[in-house]
Amino acid sequence: MDHEKSDRIRDMFNSIAESYDKLNSLMSFGQDKVWRRYVIDLADLKDGKSLLDVATGTGDIIIEALRRNKNITAAGIDFSESMLKAARERLNIKNVKLISADALAIPFNDSSFDVVTSGFLMRNVQNISEAFAEQYRVLHPGGIVICLDTTLPEKSISTPFVNLYFNFVIPLLARIISGNSSAYLYLVESMRNFKSADDLKDIMEKTGFTEVSYRKFMLGTIAVHSGKRP
Ligand SMILES: C[S@@+](CC[C@H](N)C(=O)[O-])C[C@H]1O[C@@H](n2cnc3c(N)ncnc32)[C@H](O)[C@@H]1O
Repeated sequence: MDHEKSDRIRDMFNSIAESYDKLNSLMSFGQDKVWRRYVIDLADLKDGKSLLDVATGTGDIIIEALRRNKNITAAGIDFSESMLKAARERLNIKNVKLISADALAIPFNDSSFDVVTSGFLMRNVQNISEAFAEQYRVLHPGGIVICLDTTLPEKSISTPFVNLYFNFVIPLLARIISGNSSAYLYLVESMRNFKSADDLKDIMEKTGFTEVSYRKFMLGTIAVHSGKRP
């Protein structure tokens, strides 16, 4: 594994933790809430079910899950201490475990969870197949994996607007709000180099997930994939 790259990504998230929520909401025109709601729709977490959110960041996916049903057990991992600190402040609840850990070495036993989610993780990992394999390992048979991330949009009439948004709007917002536009330029760059929705689906199927499908949002720039551990 390229530890240097991994350390760089962690440092970058440590540096933007404070402004992350505000920028996320602005950059997505508030749509990020809609995507996370959809993730939790798919998770269908009934009483007593267990959720692991990988790369939980400031905890938004867990917050949405608990808003829908408090009678679940939830855990989150992330390798950025600063993001986790923000999550701990927001999720000031004893029954949510928040652990500092890498998505490629999830510190839970095999078959521990009913649902595993991740939001904007896969773009950052060194090896997407390994990350999905770890999520597969900690899921119960029959458990559900859900992955929210950016996706490469197909060329369409909206392509010039999408380009304008990524090349100018995001860096400008990042500079104004976080003072750290280089971190957000990394995010734009990582999105450009990321997989298409079909390629990601393919990786999930090769990992062993079945019933893999996806839905796109925001002019085809965001995708939510889901699958099942048979
Ligand atoms: C863009 S934030 C997303 C946070 C949250 N999931 C959300 O939906 O807002 C990406 C998060 O992934 C974490 N991350 C990236 N690579 C990781 C890895 N290999 N292991 C654990 N966390 C990782 C970062 O620290 C950061 O908190």
